[in-house]
Parts: sequence; structure tokens; C-alpha cells
Amino acid sequence: RLSEKDVCLSRTYSKCVTMAEEAKKRAGYAAVDNHIKNNHVVGVGSGSTIVYAVDRLAERVRQENLNIVCVPTSFQARQLILQHGLTLSDLDRHPELDVAIDGADEVDSALTLIKGGGGCLTQEKIVAGCAKHFIVIADYRKDSKSLGQQWKKGVPIEVIPMAYVPVTKAIMQRFGGEVELRMAVSKAGPVVTDNSNFILDWKFEKTHNWKEVNTAIKMIPGVVETGLFVGMAERVYFGMEDGSIRTR
Ligand code: 5RP
Repeated sequence: RLSEKDVCLSRTYSKCVTMAEEAKKRAGYAAVDNHIKNNHVVGVGSGSTIVYAVDRLAERVRQENLNIVCVPTSFQARQLILQHGLTLSDLDRHPELDVAIDGADEVDSALTLIKGGGGCLTQEKIVAGCAKHFIVIADYRKDSKSLGQQWKKGVPIEVIPMAYVPVTKAIMQRFGGEVELRMAVSKAGPVVTDNSNFILDWKFEKTHNWKEVNTAIKMIPGVVETGLFVGMAERVYFGMEDGSIRTR
């Protein structure tokens, strides 16, 4: 049986979860309302926050009879687009996007992002890089002065499977910290990305020059992409605890 304290804690926890979900929803709705126009080609990000943005996008397409084409960043995003009856495309047919909207794990004061908590960082970076405007949506827990203050799981790095040990060593030798191979929830094996690669999570110990580190890590043979998004985000919508939206 739960003690009174446990009941109280679990109520506080569910209040927190509800608040965060509300915040994600507001951020997603604001981004779609402010940035999506008729005839836009839209990059659809991955994660839990983007679900609200796609809900709103589908609602607007129905209500306003908009002509919108969507390019997914993951299997999840593809399923979301199809489930909502939106028009699915790809970069072969639409290599230039008007807007890409995506979530983030952490956003610092310079709009540098950590992404890839869901392991889709490579496609997310490709799609964001093809968009004229890259808009980020997040709840208040992702807002940070400096990377690492909020997100404790490190920078995700997608690697070719045969290279995960040498890449792990190279990163620790050059930049310090700890690197972990991301394991499936079952612990039966590593997480495998949509591109059939592995994910390393680099738990850095200090603030770095993220632009330099991003370039240096990408030069290590076997690295496919990093979850550091430097100089890519144009605007971030944070849903706040008090129900407001903060933009940066
Ligand atoms: C997936 C991502 C997600 O956008 C990021 O992890 C944020 O997810 P959520 O909206 O669930 O907090 O980068 O690779």
C-alpha cells in the first residue's frame, strides 16, 4: 500500500507531467500557427513534442484546406504524417523545404541544440539543413544557459557499428568525459537507428566550443553525425509552466 507521502509525491509527479505535456502542446501549436502557410513543404521532426505540432498541422490543413507536403525525419515522423492523412514526401522529390519543425533535448542561450534523444539526429539534421527556416519546439525543461545544465544524458553521436569502440576511445582521449553505447530498454543489445547504426552518448564534463567540437567529432572515421546543432535553429518556442510561450 502507498504511504501518504508516496501518494503526495506521485500526485506532484503527475501534475508535473501534465504541465510539461501542456507546455509541449502550446509550443507545437504556436510554431505551426506562426510559421506554416499554404503551399509549404514542411520538415516533420521526431519525439513527443512534434506530435502536438502535427496534430495542429492536420487540423489547419482540414479547416483551411491548405496544400501542405511533409518530409519526415524518422520512421515515427513518417507514421505520424500518414496517420494524420497528411501528404508524405521525401528529399528526392522535395530537396528544398520551406520550414522544418522539430523538438530538442536542450537549447542553450546561443540556440545551440542537443538533439537525438530519440536517436534520429542524422535525418533530423539533414532535413533541418534543407529548410529555409528551422523552428524548434520544446517545454520549459529544455531551456538552458549552457548545454549540460538540463540534459544529463550527453551528446548523442551516430556511428557505424564496427567503429563504436575506436570512436569511443577517440572522443574520450580528445575531449574527456564518458562515452556510452546506447542500449535498448531490454538491455538485450544496442539501440539501432533508422540507418542501421549505433548511438554513442558522450557525457561531457565542461562547456566546449560546440562548433569546433562538432566539426572535430565529425572528422573521426566512423562518425556519421552528432546531435550538436550549431547555428541551425532560427527560433525556439518554449511552452512555459505558467501557460505562456517564450521565444528565443
Ligand atoms: C529525437 C529528437 C527529439 O526531437 C528530442 O529528443 C526531443 O524529444 P521530445 O520532444 O520527446 O522531448 O531529437 O532524435
